Amino acid sequence: MTVVAIMGAQWGDEGKGKIVDELAMKANFVVRYQGGSNAGHRVVHDTGEFAFHLVPSGILYPNTSCIIGNGVVIDPKGLISEIELLQEQGIDTSRLYISERAHVVMPYHFLLDRLEEEARGADKIDSTQRGIGPAYVDKHARTGIRMADLLNVDTFRAKLSQILQQKNRMITQIYGQPPLSLEEIHGTYFRYGQQLLPHIADTQKMLHDALFENKTILLEGAQGALLDIDFGTYPFVTSSSTMAAHAAVGAGLPPRSIDRVIGIYKAYITRVGSGPMPTGLFEAVGHELRDRGHEYGTTTGRERRCGWFDAVAGRFVAQLNGLDAAILTKLDVLDTFLTIKICTAYSLHGKIIHSLPATLSDLAACEPLYEEVEGWQCDTTGIQSYDELPYAAKNYLNRLEELLETPIAMISVSPQRGKTIQVQDVMAPPEHDARYPRNIMR
Ligand code: IMP
Repeated sequence: MTVVAIMGAQWGDEGKGKIVDELAMKANFVVRYQGGSNAGHRVVHDTGEFAFHLVPSGILYPNTSCIIGNGVVIDPKGLISEIELLQEQGIDTSRLYISERAHVVMPYHFLLDRLEEEARGADKIDSTQRGIGPAYVDKHARTGIRMADLLNVDTFRAKLSQILQQKNRMITQIYGQPPLSLEEIHGTYFRYGQQLLPHIADTQKMLHDALFENKTILLEGAQGALLDIDFGTYPFVTSSSTMAAHAAVGAGLPPRSIDRVIGIYKAYITRVGSGPMPTGLFEAVGHELRDRGHEYGTTTGRERRCGWFDAVAGRFVAQLNGLDAAILTKLDVLDTFLTIKICTAYSLHGKIIHSLPATLSDLAACEPLYEEVEGWQCDTTGIQSYDELPYAAKNYLNRLEELLETPIAMISVSPQRGKTIQVQDVMAPPEHDARYPRNIMR
């Protein structure tokens, strides 16, 4: 049995889709534990290209079951379209299970996401406009609607009626917009509940059974650690906890059931949406990284800002999450550069610092201090083993390992499935210390 939590270790878009797709082959269950349809994974396959927002990409394997956990917020309309599209592409979606405790993204969440962003003006967060922030607000304000609520026509109506009165007061009195209709939302979302009924399940029970049956479970994070609600570049963050520590809660597993935590880093760094990014580059190098890496959002199509690898932010994330290993993606994007820079420290008001400051003003004032290493200037996309990598690429990887204080277990050199160099098997069963039986359920 192995339980592996895998997470984005930068500002999202680290190429998790491809890695999760490859690791899912060895997993009995793949579980999404936070976020919503703000996430976007693209998986390139022999049979075509698949875009995922809510459904774990493990669904592409006929023997892998996929769970959308209680920590996720679900737009049922988007989810139904995603399921239908997968079915049209010939994928069996009957192995998809949705936690009955997951919260629903309602139409007023989409509307408020847009209206709140407009009201912020120049300080806008640049959200994906998928209603994520307002849905998590309601979850924590205890005014959310959960998947199980959609299934009972009367209690759903009573709950919605009460919530909608309050939402409509906000919509009409604060934002001067027309109110939303109870009848329309109730009818439509009850129907969505019925459509999703075959997938709605007691998913934590399924996962506990899986633990007892020695199954392999992959917990798949969305977004990235630097967008975390606590440790990200607040307030330019998403509204969920993207940290590995939350993987257990968002899936419904005991924290000690997680054997291994793996962080995915891109070989450089990108960010979509507003907020500080110390190594962001606006000149030719930034454009070259964007064009070579096709750095446009899967969910919104927006251009991503690009920059050199930020090892200060990288180590901050590795330490906070206790990463057992890192996976580096898109190494091939650096193939053409004569030299490559790595940010090893920041200069803040004349002082050299090695960690991420908490305030936005300090973060914005941080100037990256770079170390420059030689590029390798050859095509790495066909390379299959670590030994075949050019010397300069190995040198770059070694330096990142030192700076992150974390071993690199896999290196991706192309978007194609299988074009990944494996140094260590992150899904291998762990060796347990017999003195400390890890599974508190036994
Ligand atoms: P929200 O999650 O839609 O509220 O957006 C909050 C911030 O997180 C915005 O800057 C988004 O661009 C960013 N964000 C949300 N989801 C992702 C993602 O999957 N990848 C990268 N950035 C994201």
